[in-house]
Amino acid sequence: MPNGYFITFEGLDGSGKTTQLRRLAAWLAASGRTVVSLRNPGSTPLGDRIRSILLDSRSESALGGITSLAEMALMFADRAQSIAEVISPALAAGSIVLCDRFTDSSEAYQGAGRQLGSQRILAMHAAVCNNLLPDLTILLLPPLEASLVRARRRNHRHAEKEGTDENRFERESDDFYTRIHGAYEHIAAREPHRIAIVANDDGDNSIDAIELRIRALVTGRLPHD
Ligand code: TMP
Repeated sequence: MPNGYFITFEGLDGSGKTTQLRRLAAWLAASGRTVVSLRNPGSTPLGDRIRSILLDSRSESALGGITSLAEMALMFADRAQSIAEVISPALAAGSIVLCDRFTDSSEAYQGAGRQLGSQRILAMHAAVCNNLLPDLTILLLPPLEASLVRARRRNHRHAEKEGTDENRFERESDDFYTRIHGAYEHIAAREPHRIAIVANDDGDNSIDAIELRIRALVTGRLPHD
């Protein structure tokens, strides 16, 4: 049976991961590879509906908002659907799957940001995702300040242009994002074989320089035909 290759992109809002995913997808496709790109949450009809509930800053309740546990459960409902509908069939067909965020986001945002703890997230991952792990995770971890400024600017523009509201997470405090940043560092140190940090405090963090680093990394890892 053909066997695909599963790559996830991770990082804080505004880290530049989505731009890099698109560039890698175009480059791999130009070299003749079959590429399937998706994002969590989203990319299935159910996932798109879950995404708008999760990210809309008007998602309110009598408790003031979506509770942390409900938020975690919705993230995993979206993920279960995307695995069944997109990721597993694409891998079985031999494609390279590029996913913008996966369970590391839940561990960083819900586990650390919302302080639900890693164990609960990893248990959900086992129960709901059958412990499906990426072959490679590309983590963009530029300095926290730069990501925050970029994310907040981008979301204002998005709201003005598209009329959609995806601001719920961007309204969180700097402490929330500091915990997430720390969690990503922790996860990367725990799983160095799977996770590669391609942008950090040192070196050239221009879009082009990161793109070249990602290409070199992926070329070295992809199974040859
Ligand atoms: P995106 O804008 O990178 O697509 O991410 C959407 C937001 O959802 C982002 O603020 C991170 C958040 N998120 C979580 O909190 N937990 C998760 O498991 C995922 C996939 C995203």
